Amino acid sequence: MCGIIGYTGNRQARDVILSGLKRLEYRGYDSAGIAIGNGSLNVIKDKGDIDHLISVLPVMRGKFGIGHTRWATHGPPIKNNSHPMTDCKGQIALVHNGIIENNITLREELMKRGHVFRSETDTEVAVHLLEEFYDGDLEAAMRKTIKELKGSFALVAIHNGENGKIVGARNISPLVVGVGKRENFLASDVPAILEYTDRMIYLLDGEVVTLTKDRVRITNFEGKEIKRSWQKVDMTLEGAEKGGYDHFMLKEIFEQPKVIQDTIIGANLNAESGYSIDLTPDTIKIIACGTSYHAGYVGKYMLEELTHTPTTVELASEYRFSSDTHSEPLVIGISQSGETTDTLSAIKTAQKRGLDTLGIVNIVGSTMTREADSVLYTRAGLEVGVAATKTYITQLVALLTLSIKMGVAKETLGIDDARHLTKELRKLPKNVRSVLDQSDAIYELAQKISGAKSMFFLGRNINFPVALEGALKMKEISYIHAEGYPGGELKHGPLALVTEKTPVIAIAVKDQTYEKMLGNIGEVSARGATVIAIGTEGDRELDKYADYVFYIPDVPPLFTPILTSVVMQLLAYHTANILGCEIDKPRHLAKSVTVE
Ligand code: F6R
Repeated sequence: MCGIIGYTGNRQARDVILSGLKRLEYRGYDSAGIAIGNGSLNVIKDKGDIDHLISVLPVMRGKFGIGHTRWATHGPPIKNNSHPMTDCKGQIALVHNGIIENNITLREELMKRGHVFRSETDTEVAVHLLEEFYDGDLEAAMRKTIKELKGSFALVAIHNGENGKIVGARNISPLVVGVGKRENFLASDVPAILEYTDRMIYLLDGEVVTLTKDRVRITNFEGKEIKRSWQKVDMTLEGAEKGGYDHFMLKEIFEQPKVIQDTIIGANLNAESGYSIDLTPDTIKIIACGTSYHAGYVGKYMLEELTHTPTTVELASEYRFSSDTHSEPLVIGISQSGETTDTLSAIKTAQKRGLDTLGIVNIVGSTMTREADSVLYTRAGLEVGVAATKTYITQLVALLTLSIKMGVAKETLGIDDARHLTKELRKLPKNVRSVLDQSDAIYELAQKISGAKSMFFLGRNINFPVALEGALKMKEISYIHAEGYPGGELKHGPLALVTEKTPVIAIAVKDQTYEKMLGNIGEVSARGATVIAIGTEGDRELDKYADYVFYIPDVPPLFTPILTSVVMQLLAYHTANILGCEIDKPRHLAKSVTVE
């Protein structure tokens, strides 16, 4: 993870770097630091987030520099392990995103040659290598350094003797160049520098870039120059402001009706421009991590129902190591960031196996959009809260539109049924709004359960993965232990944990699992648990079984996850808020997981 930024131009670099780091904070907030060049190098860093860094930062004058916000991998979040790292002489400063896998061997060799290490990080070897190879040319030293490194890296360095020059290199971890007028930028992602320019050059693996305020020079690791012109990005920074809400997460939950609409329109545009996949594969494999995996799991039910295509879902981090017997003709990778290393590696594994890959991605220009054979975009816009909400909902919508399209192509879905589902799709924003209207009532309930130490989330069939997602949302932002289970599985062990102190959130919408879910609610009620049920409007039975009920509009079963998920999001949000948690930046987490 980690976020990195570099600037060279006529502005005070400190201001540009700090504003960029604020926007990169979702990538990690264990520690932060900045190095400004101005004849000598001025490096300030500390444990804590960017606001803390700003509070300890003196005036730093200088027109070029680099910055870093850290998600700790090697060594705890303390000042010495913060970036930028400097060499023994204090002439070179370096920031890094990724993991240098051979750092232990390199460290031993460098120490034998007299280098003094001040941190426990894997990164520090790179700055000492730069020092060894430096011969008046930072770009040449960078090229030699990266030859020694194994693993993933986006590296950005400056040298106090090379005024106004920044050198970056990329292998696996993302790096984008922002091209300005008499100024240039480097960053882990576009929003970090979008305030200053919308002209971007995406670096590819195996490339080095050297920036001065007037020039961007891209070369491969061997030094051969690569010509690539900038692309104008179509993104706004509107999403980067809270817009009157207390937290980004709440704002993003309330944006869902709009982004659902945008994704439906976008899916049609995508379809017109034609994401070029075979719409009638015999089998499908979905790979993703975390919340995106849960979306994929819901997608499995949609695809199987509408296209009759056997579909399996696998965690990307596991798929990569599975035996080479997988032969699904279509592999769908789902990632909001398009940068999750495990998912990217799984896509590569699928391609090596000769399989067709489709990426369902939110961030335009991200690595997955370039690496997957075809792309279907979700149109959630920028999501700042670390816990995925609107991006997950748009993944569900994208999967539903894809399932309808494939169903029609396979003729497993009749034209009239497809029309009916499309009509239901259009009603989704309104239906989501009616769930959002229950936010205050969900807050009242959250007050009753926020003292719990543990919770269970139950669902069956297509709402089973929603239970998994509900539990993930609750645990990641409120720190309450929560587990998602299929309703029928509880009695095979976990029921032993259910007491009157264990709230159970049960999805009991009117589908083929309804009666069975009532049975499961009875089982946990009999053990004293408080049951919060999510049911379908018009159901007169459910409140006889559950202590509290929230209702979603009556929609076809395949649409229910989009609505039940919103109840779960609000419940997690209000619980975490009542507990005073850092909702947008939960401890130990980062939004873009670029380590394996
Ligand atoms: C949890 C969350 C994560 C991400 C996961 C994958 O709220 O956001 O579990 O879903 O890290 O990220 P992407 O979708 O960017 O590949």
